[in-house]
Amino acid sequence: MSSSERVIGVIGSGTMGAGIAQAAAASGFIVKTMDTKPDLVEKAYTGIAARLDERVARGKLPKHDRDATMARLKVAGSPADFGHAECVIEAVTEDLSLKQSIFRELEKVVSPRTLLATNTSSLSIAKIAEGLERPERFLGMHFFNPAPVMKLVELVQGPQTGDQAIVDARAICARLEKTAVKVKDSPGFIGNRVNRPFYLESLRLLENGEADLQSIDAALRSSGGFKLGPFELMDLIGIDVNLTVTQTVWNDFGNPARFKPSAVQEKLVAAGHLGRKTNRGFYDYANSQPVPAYESQPRSTSGWKPDAALEAFAQVLEKPADRAMWIHARVLLAVINEAALAADTIALPRDVDLTMELGFNYPQGPMSFADHVGLDVVLELMKKFHAETGGDERYKPAALLEKLVSNGDLGEKTAQGFLHHWL
Ligand SMILES: NC(=O)c1ccc[n+]([C@@H]2O[C@H](COP(=O)([O-])OP(=O)(O)OC[C@H]3O[C@@H](n4cnc5c(N)ncnc54)[C@H](O)[C@@H]3O)[C@@H](O)[C@H]2O)c1
Repeated sequence: MSSSERVIGVIGSGTMGAGIAQAAAASGFIVKTMDTKPDLVEKAYTGIAARLDERVARGKLPKHDRDATMARLKVAGSPADFGHAECVIEAVTEDLSLKQSIFRELEKVVSPRTLLATNTSSLSIAKIAEGLERPERFLGMHFFNPAPVMKLVELVQGPQTGDQAIVDARAICARLEKTAVKVKDSPGFIGNRVNRPFYLESLRLLENGEADLQSIDAALRSSGGFKLGPFELMDLIGIDVNLTVTQTVWNDFGNPARFKPSAVQEKLVAAGHLGRKTNRGFYDYANSQPVPAYESQPRSTSGWKPDAALEAFAQVLEKPADRAMWIHARVLLAVINEAALAADTIALPRDVDLTMELGFNYPQGPMSFADHVGLDVVLELMKKFHAETGGDERYKPAALLEKLVSNGDLGEKTAQGFLHHWL
């Protein structure tokens, strides 16, 4: 191996480990992967070869690039093989004590300069770092699935993570052609936290009979511009997987009402209706066209009329202030409020938007969407929703939103809102 070669170590060769190994090898890194047994790594590499072969067959990847990528993938027999790695990324099962023991062992055998990263989705970086001698070289590098395709990495800064570790991780992400965002160690990081209301508010509208599930999905697609509605997405991801994320975020924040898991979701999971993987979730997939499988009793909306705040919101979006717009606004404003809380405490507003766009397929980040609508318009409607939901904390305007509006920083129209804009 020449001294100019850059080496990345990967621990765990499951879904994420294999994906990260593939992405790194395709970007020119020598990758050494370790699992509990070398056969597991070989099996993962066979899977990577099959994926690359398919791309070669479709004319998407030159054969010599496929061969060069495969030649960079090596098997590590023990942590000592990671001695010269510039970074080791851990992607083993989501288990705190397992991750802690892996990093404690690893630290003894790698260079003091080696960056140590965990791909955890939900564990605290501070807790994983407990007992490390060099916690300043340790951080979270949260890749998204499928790692070779998804462009986002959340860099999670624990209380002891050094700035140089973030700088080094950014350089690795640049080589991987990924966009890195920085977030302070906190439940759900940026994405899994800010995205919660997208599901939870939709579930509440369903549960309260304010709309049926097809109308909610259709509103988020047509009015909101999302590729899939919240119920279609939960069915795709797995309702159980989605519920686990909500429970973790809810518990780790100390059980605030705004993250409380929905009873509808809990009932479906208990009944084994987990979504597409069981052929039934919110929809039934037994036939070619999915049909709603969840019985709800939506109330009549015949006397419903938009109020002035919704009219103003819809006017900026140049769409009718109809019931679909009301559903879209209810869901999006809950997301914007959570995004504002996050932007005030754990991440830059720009990074919140990048996360939602690149990691969660939002058509537009919640911060720039709010700036486009106008923060005064958003705040007015937020207050209406707060009143009409009986003071629900999901719509209790975030301090940052209130402050920007009182300063006259209203978004695009004043060149400053959550983000800076050119006039
Ligand atoms: N799957 C996702 O969508 C996703 C997305 C982002 C982050 N994550 C996180 O990535 C991590 C891995 O998730 P996954 O979905 O790839 O899991 P997985 O179950 O597919 O793979 C885990 C791998 O770790 C290996 N492993 C277990 N103990 C080990 C040990 N002591 N040493 C070496 N290898 C060991 C297992 O054999 C397995 O191959 C978790 O922390 C998860 O939270 C997952």
